[in-house]
Amino acid sequence: MLRRTLLQSALAAPLLAACATNTTLGAADPMAPLPHDTSSYARPDEARVRHVSLDLTADFDRKRFSGKATLDIVARADAQEIVLDSKGLIIQRVRAGGRDTTFTLGDSDPTKGAPLTIQLNGARRIEIEYESAENASALQWLEPAQTASNKRFLFSQGQAIHNRTWIPTQDSPGIRQTYDARIVVPADLKAVMSAEMLTPNGERTQDGKRAYRFRMPQPIPPYLIAIAIGDLVHADVGPRTGVYAEPSVIERGVYECADMERMMEVAESLYGPYRWGRYDVLILPPSFPYGGMENPRLTFLTPTFLAGDRSLVSLVAHELAHSWSGNLVTNAVWADGWLNEGFTSYIEGRIGEALFGQEHARMAEALSWADIQTALGSVSPDGQRLHWVGEVSANENSSAITYDKGATFLRTVEGIIGRERIDAYLRSYFDRYAFQPMTTQAFLADFRANVVRGDANLESRLMLDQWAYEPGIPSNAAAPQAEGFSEIPGYVEAFLAGGPPAAAPWETWNTMQRQRYLQSLPRELPAERLQALEAAFGLDDIGNMEVRYDWLILAVRNGFAPSERAVETFLTVQGRGKFIRPIYTALRAQGDWGRSVAQRVYARARPTYHPIVQAGVDRIMNAA
Ligand code: BES
Ligand code: ZN
Repeated sequence: MLRRTLLQSALAAPLLAACATNTTLGAADPMAPLPHDTSSYARPDEARVRHVSLDLTADFDRKRFSGKATLDIVARADAQEIVLDSKGLIIQRVRAGGRDTTFTLGDSDPTKGAPLTIQLNGARRIEIEYESAENASALQWLEPAQTASNKRFLFSQGQAIHNRTWIPTQDSPGIRQTYDARIVVPADLKAVMSAEMLTPNGERTQDGKRAYRFRMPQPIPPYLIAIAIGDLVHADVGPRTGVYAEPSVIERGVYECADMERMMEVAESLYGPYRWGRYDVLILPPSFPYGGMENPRLTFLTPTFLAGDRSLVSLVAHELAHSWSGNLVTNAVWADGWLNEGFTSYIEGRIGEALFGQEHARMAEALSWADIQTALGSVSPDGQRLHWVGEVSANENSSAITYDKGATFLRTVEGIIGRERIDAYLRSYFDRYAFQPMTTQAFLADFRANVVRGDANLESRLMLDQWAYEPGIPSNAAAPQAEGFSEIPGYVEAFLAGGPPAAAPWETWNTMQRQRYLQSLPRELPAERLQALEAAFGLDDIGNMEVRYDWLILAVRNGFAPSERAVETFLTVQGRGKFIRPIYTALRAQGDWGRSVAQRVYARARPTYHPIVQAGVDRIMNAA
C-alpha cells in the first residue's frame, strides 16, 4: 500500500510540477513536459533522445554520409517504441540494446519528412546504420570550382528542420541532446563541427583517409549539430577566439574579426559567463545560404561579410549573442522563433553600442525600424505577430517581425523599466533557464513574476500581450532617433530635384549611412537618375555587399538594363538567400527583360546554390 502511494506520487510529480510552475519547461527533469512541435514526429512524452553518437564517412563522390548513429534515450517505463524524424535517409539496419529490432518508415511529407518508428524491446540504446540521400537539404557538397582552394567542400545547415536529412534523431528544438562524432574524410581535407575538436590534426585511417573526433557535452537542440569539411586552416584572434577558413581567406577573416574577444567580454559582462568553452568562426565558401549561423562553439559565416573595413561585424555580434539567446535558452517550437532572433537582435545592438558607441547603435536601430515599417505594409496581419499562430504566418516568416519587432519590444521594455532592470532581468533569465526550452507564454509569465510583480500601472504601460500576440507595433514603441541620419533626407531631396549625386558626402559616410541613403530613395526612379548614381559612386562593383545589394535591388526594380552585368555577377558570385531571392523576385516582376535575365542567370547559377536557396528560387521562378 505504501509502495503504491509512493509510486503514484512519483508518477504524478512531473505533472504537478508542470501545472504549478508553468515557467520551468524542460528543467533538470529529462522528461519535463514540452509544448507540441508541429514540425516534428517525435513523441517526447513517451521517449526522448538525450545523446547522439555519430560515426560517419563523408563520401564526396556519392555526395552522401554513411555510417552509424547510436542514440541514448530516456523513456517512460511502459514505452514500446521511439519515434524519430528522418527525411530521405536510407536505413539499413537498426539495433536496440545490441540486437536487431523492427522499425518502420512512415509516409513522407514534403516538408517534415517521415517518422522513423523503432521498437525498443526494453532497451535504451539504439544503433542505426544508414546513409543520407544525395539531395539532403541540410548538406551542400561543393565542387572544387566553388571554393577558394579549388578543393571539394561540404557544409551542413540544420536550422530549422534540415538536420533530419543527415541525422536520424528527434529534430525538435525542445529536445536537447549532447553529441559526439567521429567523421572520416578524404586525407587532404579537414572536418570541423559545432563541438569540441578532439583531434586537431585528424587521425590516419587504415584506408588512407583521415578521421576527426568531436564532443559536445552541453545538451543542445539538434538543429545546432553542424559540420563542415574542406581545405581549412585556423588562426587565433584572442585567447579563446579564432577563425577557420580556407588558406587564402584566413588573413582577411582574422582582420575582419579582430573585435571578437571584446564582443565576448561585453556579452559576458551583461549576460553571464560564456558557457561553451572556445568561440571560433568558420568562413564558408560564398554559397553559404545565410549571413551567419550560430552553431555552438563554431559560428558559420558568409564570406560576403568580409567588407575589408570591419563595417559588417554586427553579424558576428549577432551570432555570438545566440550563445545566450537561442543556444542556452531556446525556442521550444519554431512558432516562438522571436525568442531566439528578437532577443539576439536586441543583444547584437547592445554589443554594437558598447563597442562602437551610441550613435552607431541608433543608426542600426533606425534601419531596423524602417524595415519594420516596410513589413507592416506588406505582411498580412497574421504574419505580424511575434508568436506565430497556425501555419499562415510560418509561410510568411518575415525577419522584420521576428528580428526587428522582437528587438524593438525589448528596447521598449528597456525604455520603460530602465537599463539596469532589464539587464538584471535578462542575466537572471539566462541563468535560470540555461539549457532549457522556452515559450512566449513562459517568458511572459517569468517576466511578470520577476519584474512586473503585480504593478498594474507598469503592466499597462508595457503592453506585453499586445507585443507578443497582436499584429502591428504597439503604441508604446520607442522610435529611434539617429543623428547620423539627420542630413540624409536633404541629400535625397536634392538628388531627386535633379542635383548631382556627388553633392552628397558619400565618401565620408559609413556603411549604414550609405544604406540609409539608398534605402530612402523612391522605389521608382528615371534611368537617367540611376545612371548618375551609379557613375558617381561606382555602385555596380562596390565591394560592400550590403550596399551593393541595396543598389542592385533598386536598379532591378526599375528595370535598369545597364546594370544587367552587375546583377548577373551578384547572383553568381555568392548564394546568400537574403540577397538572392529578392533579386529574382524583382527580376520576375520586370516583364520580358527581367524574366529572361532571371531565366538565363538561374540556369547557370542554380547548381551553385544551396538546396535551401534552390528551393526558394524554384518557387519564385515557377510562380505565375
Ligand atoms: N539563426 C539565424 C539564421 C537562420 C534563421 C537559419 C532561420 C535558418 C532559419 C542567424 O542567427 C541569423 O539570424 N542570421 C542572419 C544575420 C543577422 C545579422 C540578422 C542572416 O543570415 O542574415
Ligand atoms: Zn540569428
